[in-house]
Amino acid sequence: MDKVKLRSTIAAARAAIPEEDRHAASVEIRESLLDRPWVQMAGLVACYWSAGTEPATHGLVFALWKHGATVILPVLRPDDDLDWAVYDGPDTLAPGRFGIMEPVDTRRGVDAIRTAALVIVPALAVGRSTGVRLGRGGGSYDRTLARVGPNVPTVALLHEGELLDDIPAEPHDRPVRYAALPSGIVQVGTRRPAE
Ligand SMILES: Nc1ncnc2c1ncn2[C@@H]1O[C@H](COP(=O)(O)OP(=O)(O)OP(=O)(O)O)[C@@H](O)[C@H]1O
Ligand SMILES: [Mg+2]
Repeated sequence: MDKVKLRSTIAAARAAIPEEDRHAASVEIRESLLDRPWVQMAGLVACYWSAGTEPATHGLVFALWKHGATVILPVLRPDDDLDWAVYDGPDTLAPGRFGIMEPVDTRRGVDAIRTAALVIVPALAVGRSTGVRLGRGGGSYDRTLARVGPNVPTVALLHEGELLDDIPAEPHDRPVRYAALPSGIVQVGTRRPAE
């Protein structure tokens, strides 16, 4: 299946998840992440502010911030690359491009991601053996993940069933190391995609 078809299949499946199940899934994901020492220890966390049917990150971002981590969130640039700004509580967000909430704080530049100790990204699906993620088609996270060092944990948040055996991949696609699902956190990408 090609990327375009797979995106619409997954979007439709997400839309069919009842709101309360989606909420419960987001709580499971949040709790299993907050249980992990490598999440608790991260002083600077890059995350995203979820929208629509994505696994919700609002509670996760709030908890990380409350626990004392510095959380940076993306600010979508006109060229679809991601700038970063610091989250400083629920009152510090405003709608950006496509109505997605973004921090109003000073922009730290596209390279701010290089200093993150933990990177949490959205995805529609992840390939189990490669760790390659399918995003929404902007290439924003492919550019972002290319700036993240190999020892930094990178995690894509998924609904159940979105960790797939086979995922369409192109040379520019950047893998993640973990997929976080309601049923738990899975290490992915034992086989790296061909460069
Ligand atoms: N490093 C890069 N620099 C410039 N453009 C890029 C880069 N990586 C990917 N792109 C472009 O982004 C477009 C979309 O890529 P792709 O279909 O892989 O998106 P995606 O991974 O689903 O989206 P996202 O990364 O935002 O989640 C492609 O046309 C690709 O050429
Ligand atoms: Mg990609």
